[in-house]
Amino acid sequence: MKLEELRGGTAVITGAGSGIGEALAHEAASLGMNLVLADISAERLDAVAVNLRADGHRVLAVPTDVRVAAQVDALADAAYAEFGSVALLANNAGLESVGYTWDIPADEWQRVIDVNLTGVFHGIRSFIPRMGADPQHSHLVNTVSVGGVSITPRMTAYAASKHGVQALSECVYLECAEKFPQIQVSVFSPAQVATRIFDDVEVRHDSDEDAEFWRENIRGGMTPQTAAKLYFDGLSRDEFWILTHPEAFERLAGKRAKVLAGKLRPDAVFDGRN
Ligand SMILES: NC(=O)c1ccc[n+]([C@@H]2O[C@H](COP(=O)([O-])OP(=O)(O)OC[C@H]3O[C@@H](n4cnc5c(N)ncnc54)[C@H](O)[C@@H]3O)[C@@H](O)[C@H]2O)c1
Repeated sequence: MKLEELRGGTAVITGAGSGIGEALAHEAASLGMNLVLADISAERLDAVAVNLRADGHRVLAVPTDVRVAAQVDALADAAYAEFGSVALLANNAGLESVGYTWDIPADEWQRVIDVNLTGVFHGIRSFIPRMGADPQHSHLVNTVSVGGVSITPRMTAYAASKHGVQALSECVYLECAEKFPQIQVSVFSPAQVATRIFDDVEVRHDSDEDAEFWRENIRGGMTPQTAAKLYFDGLSRDEFWILTHPEAFERLAGKRAKVLAGKLRPDAVFDGRN
């Protein structure tokens, strides 16, 4: 589909209060879309909404914790009540966690899985039946990560959640092809994008160095604005894989494929690196 066709359509974006979600909101607005923005932080959400409204965009801001089924149902009710249809559901809210697996507090593990994986499920459960009842072409895009096709020690909860979202997305792609072919399902799988995601990590004395390493690592990454442009470019081409760093993705996915197909150990070395 052409990007112009999104004009007048509605984009629902979770995690819209910061980083990639905020940039997606601005990009969608610049394409003439109406916005339904959701974030657990009402304060962040409000700041983004105020900015967009000041530029004349139609914005509904709905503070939402994607972990809570009833709140995501309420988000869908609000979106349909206000705009009547949804052209893009961007399941984007996410958070990070670092440290040795056995040191992760149980509530932190639960939070990461609940936001990154179950939150995406809730979005699908609340929106897809209504998007499927609408014959118009629409998009479901789940934000995964290169962490959804690679293995990173001391980032276990995140890796487990993102592998889960990758699997969930491929299942839903096949299910929509069967039941709702007008819904294009995609994964957005970024590598480093310069956002605050590691600033929100809960740091424990043992994970301090890891958090600092990753904070620095993504600081030099792509801007969220460039990532958002690539997102909508991919969407306009109805791509399943929407990537920010295709070479890194291919290297990591290629390694994963070799490890699985060859039944190799996780520390197998390829081209001098593992
Ligand atoms: N930044 C990167 O390098 C990178 C790389 C790969 C994947 N991603 C993914 O991109 C997505 C966006 O991350 P970002 O980098 O923009 O981070 P970010 O921290 O800037 O934004 C994430 C937003 O999600 C919100 N959020 C957290 N818990 C929530 C909940 N329970 N309900 C609703 N909203 C909640 C936060 O308040 C925040 O505003 C995430 O899914 C992340 O895993 C980011």
